Amino acid sequence: MISRIVRVKAEFTGKEEVVVLPLYEGDKKPTGLVKKLDVLCHSAISKTLKSGHFKAEAGETLLLGLHLPRAPDYVLLVGLGKREKMDPERMAAAGGSASKLLKKHRFGSCHLFASDVLEESPDERLHPFLKGFLLAQYTFFLGERKQPTELKKLALMAGSSKAVSSAMRRAHMVAEYNQKVRDLVNLPANFLTPARLATEAQKLAKDHGLQCRVLGLRELQKMKMGAVLSVARGSKEEPRFINLHYNKGKSTRARVCLVGKAVTFDTGGISIKPWQHMEEMKGDMAGGALVLCVVAAAARMKLPLEIIGLVPAVENMPGGNAFRPGDVITTYTGKTIEVLSTDAEGRLILSDALAYAAEFKPDFIMDFATLTGAVVIALGTRIAGVMGTSQPHIDRLLEAGAVAGEPAWQLPLDKKFSESIKGDISDYKNYSGRDGSTITAAALLGEFVGKTPWVHVDIAGTFWSETGKVSYHSKGATGYGVDLVLRFLQSLANKK
Ligand code: BES
Ligand code: ZN
Ligand code: ZN
Repeated sequence: MISRIVRVKAEFTGKEEVVVLPLYEGDKKPTGLVKKLDVLCHSAISKTLKSGHFKAEAGETLLLGLHLPRAPDYVLLVGLGKREKMDPERMAAAGGSASKLLKKHRFGSCHLFASDVLEESPDERLHPFLKGFLLAQYTFFLGERKQPTELKKLALMAGSSKAVSSAMRRAHMVAEYNQKVRDLVNLPANFLTPARLATEAQKLAKDHGLQCRVLGLRELQKMKMGAVLSVARGSKEEPRFINLHYNKGKSTRARVCLVGKAVTFDTGGISIKPWQHMEEMKGDMAGGALVLCVVAAAARMKLPLEIIGLVPAVENMPGGNAFRPGDVITTYTGKTIEVLSTDAEGRLILSDALAYAAEFKPDFIMDFATLTGAVVIALGTRIAGVMGTSQPHIDRLLEAGAVAGEPAWQLPLDKKFSESIKGDISDYKNYSGRDGSTITAAALLGEFVGKTPWVHVDIAGTFWSETGKVSYHSKGATGYGVDLVLRFLQSLANKK
């Protein structure tokens, strides 16, 4: 994690280790301050641009080693692609490529020249570029082998406008909380148990001045959280139900409940999963991690909202005391669900959690869950699935996703889907076949929120990167959703 980011005047001293220079495709001649830099570089930049070896295509990079008396030691050219095709995702990807290259070549500090191309509308350009840049430095490793040097210091060469400073600060913050989510998701299940996740929540609460209440096994039994308890039964690890509360009891613009699925490991239970890719199921708590980190970040941003983060945390194991297919569970509300697959456990724990959320009488409930394999088939690994009962909130969320470069797409949550989850011997069943199974899972959740406006986000496709191919990803957790949710909450807070 880059710990120091400072803004400095856009002036070149010749002492810079490396200057990162973002350029649009088709901008052949350096102008303004870049021209000055080019002179110091004995025209290395303009000549390179003319040579055709660097076209400034999106994400393209070229490292120029200069070692001239008054020039930076290195200049890293970064392509942003065509100006008119600019979008936040591309910006982040370009920032990520530059950053990965610096990491590969073991640079410890760098100057990012933002004055010319990133400074106009900083929130749309500088912010995503910097976010991608910071995220690309992320590494996760549990062991003693020496890791590649990370950049420690970034000096941003830009003007001192408010918009620049705020884009810079926000990108740094988003990257920080995104990496916190990644850390939690990447932590193996023998480290990150439900109890440990609760401890992490308590730490966040302490650092951010939040209220934190953790319910353990006994309390959950007393409260009759039947679904959470059933899923937890097969594991030696006891369940926790985490409640992180920001602005508790304060009068704010709105009260929001954020609910996150936290299955610290999903074996599938008795309906056990095949072994291939099963290790990814250590990340089946990504929704919960996202909720905890976002509540903390919202507190850091002092958003004028009351936010209640609710995270049911369990491990889904096929132990001797495990719940079985065919069992009928009595949930927190008293409604019953027949278990057809113990692998459809997320919707079970969320039924309890959403019903509990509704008791806070919030203006709005939103949940995040690595809920269905089907959403990966439908939308792939870059776009989350969104369903819900409040179209205005959904529209706001989709808009926030587009701006954040963390896209989401709405699927129809038609009433007919509720028919298919009606049970034969109980109120509901937890599986009704493969057809539309992202939507039927959501439909079951919808039965437990009551009348509160609600949006569900299925992040089973986006929480993980198998290849680490996107420049600002590394293999494993992506931290998807932090920027998206913060933008969404900001827009709720600003609502007229
Ligand atoms: N945690 C999984 C969903 C998942 C799949 C998350 C792939 C991330 C990547 C969930 O609990 C699950 O197992 N869902 C099953 C349900 C089915 C058996 C009814 C699914 O979607 O395949
Ligand atoms: Zn499962
Ligand atoms: Zn699961």
